[in-house]
Amino acid sequence: MSRLMIIVGSVRPGRIGLPIATWVRDSVAARGDFEIDWVDLAELGLPFMDEPSHPRLRTYTHQHTLDWSARVDAADAILLVTPEYNHSYSPALKNAFDFLMQEWWRKPVAFVSYGGVSGGSRGVVAFEPVILQLGMVRVGAAVEIPFAGRLVVDGVFTPEQKEIDILEKLLDETASLVEPLRPLKNRRPAAQLG
Ligand SMILES: Cc1cc2nc3c(=O)[nH]c(=O)nc-3n(C[C@H](O)[C@H](O)[C@H](O)COP(=O)(O)O)c2cc1C
Repeated sequence: MSRLMIIVGSVRPGRIGLPIATWVRDSVAARGDFEIDWVDLAELGLPFMDEPSHPRLRTYTHQHTLDWSARVDAADAILLVTPEYNHSYSPALKNAFDFLMQEWWRKPVAFVSYGGVSGGSRGVVAFEPVILQLGMVRVGAAVEIPFAGRLVVDGVFTPEQKEIDILEKLLDETASLVEPLRPLKNRRPAAQLG
């Protein structure tokens, strides 16, 4: 079974990212075709990127980086549940990505975004150069949830039908990319390590 890492991209107290990501996790689990690695960045507690060397060298000096590296290595695909902050991405998410390099190479990456009127899509667009630089392959289907706060009541997110339908498409597409991309994992050419 392929391993899907679900990353909760917001870390602030009272975040709606957690209930939204919980819905995503439960929906993935109900399908039964992915093993889930649940990464709540608030729980993971990575500091601001504190490695002395460029991540391309993989000469990590901190246990938190070694653990994070092994965890991302083990993932076959990544699903980001992410807010939009000031028309851009969550800094906690960017920080977690900056710790590593090779580990992200040629992994499918899918987005569930949320926010106000734009459904978090500006945050996703701002993150695209990051995933491109890291050699990831973006899943086309994307769940975008406008005014997501209205769908969270007492800490529980209740999706509308369109979100349910698009999440299924997103997961189908993610699943279809895992096997074709698997032979390319961890094979970033040296010339592109800069
Ligand atoms: C610092 C900050 C900046 C925000 N900027 C935007 C924004 O540019 N566009 C938007 O639609 N919503 C914006 N919002 C509203 C968020 O979409 C909303 O607060 C959402 O709940 C944030 O996700 P979180 O609760 O998981 O942190 C912003 C919220 C915060 C806290």
